[in-house]
Amino acid sequence: MKKLVVKLIKKALKKKRVKLKDEEIENLLEIPPSADFGDYAFPCFFLAEKLKQEPDQIALELREEIGTPPATDFEDIQTAGPYINFYFNRKTLAKKLVWEALTYKKNYGKTDFGKKKKILVEFSSPNIAKPFGIGHLRSTIIGNSIANICEFLGFKVIRVNYLGDWGTQFGKLLLGYNKFGSEKKLQKNPVKHLLEIYIKANKKIYEKKSREEFRKLEAGDKKALMLWRLFKEISMEEFEKIYNTLGIKFDVYLGESMYNKKMKNVIQELEEKKLLKKSKGAKIVDLKKEGLGVCLIEKSDKATLYATRDLASAIDRYKKYKFEKMIYEVGQEQKLYFKQIFRILELMGYDWAKDCIHVEHGLYLGKDGKRFATRKGKTFFMRDILDETISLAKKEIVKRAPSISRKELEKRALKIAIAAIFYGDLKNNRSNNMVFDIKRFVSFEGDTGPYIQYSYARAGSILKKTKNQDKFEVYELQPQEIELIKKLLQFQEIVLDAYKSLNPSVIANYCHKISQLFNEFYHACPVIGSKEESFRLALIAAFRQVLKNASHLLGIELLEEM
Ligand code: ARG
Repeated sequence: MKKLVVKLIKKALKKKRVKLKDEEIENLLEIPPSADFGDYAFPCFFLAEKLKQEPDQIALELREEIGTPPATDFEDIQTAGPYINFYFNRKTLAKKLVWEALTYKKNYGKTDFGKKKKILVEFSSPNIAKPFGIGHLRSTIIGNSIANICEFLGFKVIRVNYLGDWGTQFGKLLLGYNKFGSEKKLQKNPVKHLLEIYIKANKKIYEKKSREEFRKLEAGDKKALMLWRLFKEISMEEFEKIYNTLGIKFDVYLGESMYNKKMKNVIQELEEKKLLKKSKGAKIVDLKKEGLGVCLIEKSDKATLYATRDLASAIDRYKKYKFEKMIYEVGQEQKLYFKQIFRILELMGYDWAKDCIHVEHGLYLGKDGKRFATRKGKTFFMRDILDETISLAKKEIVKRAPSISRKELEKRALKIAIAAIFYGDLKNNRSNNMVFDIKRFVSFEGDTGPYIQYSYARAGSILKKTKNQDKFEVYELQPQEIELIKKLLQFQEIVLDAYKSLNPSVIANYCHKISQLFNEFYHACPVIGSKEESFRLALIAAFRQVLKNASHLLGIELLEEM
């Protein structure tokens, strides 16, 4: 429908010898604060200088040029001062929405905007030999949603998990295992045991020896490599379990360790391109002049670094995928770091460096405002958080459905718990810090994941009360119906907005909004037995479809019953 408005304006502008592209007109169009001013408004201020006329006058003359479009499209087109306001035909909107949503179903809202161009989305990227902590949860949730959004818009998405499986911490772990490790304990509770070992070995007195161990590993020492492989396997098993539970998938697992052998090439290339400087025996790229500090490339003991591996990995990824865009979903504490990496790639002459984007996120905070992940020195493990959320969800479910079967309870509680955590995160602008408050997340009321699921289930229970009818007639529409219809028609624009800002909160907030509008509609408009029954049932079905598609983009599954 927006396209229709654009077409009319374009034609009218042409007669005034003003040429604008569709996209430019689209960007100028405003959604008025109140429906009294129409569904779209076109402001004429920007033409004043060019046409040497008052904006009000321009609006009047453009309105003249537009003429009388078919009444099935527009109920009215009026000027109000410097604006031209467009009022769509309500019934046409209603029919269009219902027809499109119920015809295209899970494809409603999709476009070929991405033209199958490749986007690499790197997210989650936990460090092996440590339990999957809450520190990597944000990246997992947000990255997954961004990948879903890109896919929905017709990009070819490659989901990459870049494991932290190399680095000096493995020196500590190797040393620790040799000193404090027990095969028995490793078999019983592998991840916890590795953590124990790590904590014991992460002390100043072991520093030198740990470095020695890491050097052995980098040199390809067989025994060290064997242990490292074992640690990696153990961790991967745990990570896979968690990803499976959360419904998260990757196309490619990369790891820092893969670039160990390519390190020499990168260092040599930096050397040849005269980008390296010696500093106290170490090698650095000096970006101080650009306000980006220095980036350490090789330590004085020749040990390689996180940054060197990232450079090698980026170059490799481009060779392999020729991506249009590469997104790194990583916490904002690495902001400067990624600026350095992208700048160095640029200085190396890779013009695709400009297509690399660090999509940052803020921290999880406790209710006390302190960093959540390390409160009271405790690390929070994903498994424990999930279990706690599930048990809270169970309480809520049992309150409403005391006679539910055990099996169904387990199934529902898991889906609700995931929705609670995902939505609790995604509703926030990702750059901001946010309070991680499971109790609030799990509530069935308010701006929460379970509320969205609840609205979907409620809508479903209305449809179940009656047979679906194929045909419907649209009578005079109530304001609550119009609001809901208009918002549902905006879905595609919303997805595009979320993509442009790489911010899933746009979608999360939309899910909440349409759920609210649905509940208001249902409160105000009787369905079963009313003369509008057939249309209203179709509208409810359309609402469910849109909510389902939108929730899918967040990684949230909906439920038929709550
Ligand atoms: N494993 C890293 C960490 O936990 C995150 C990796 C981010 N991605 C990257 N390409 N550096 O801090």
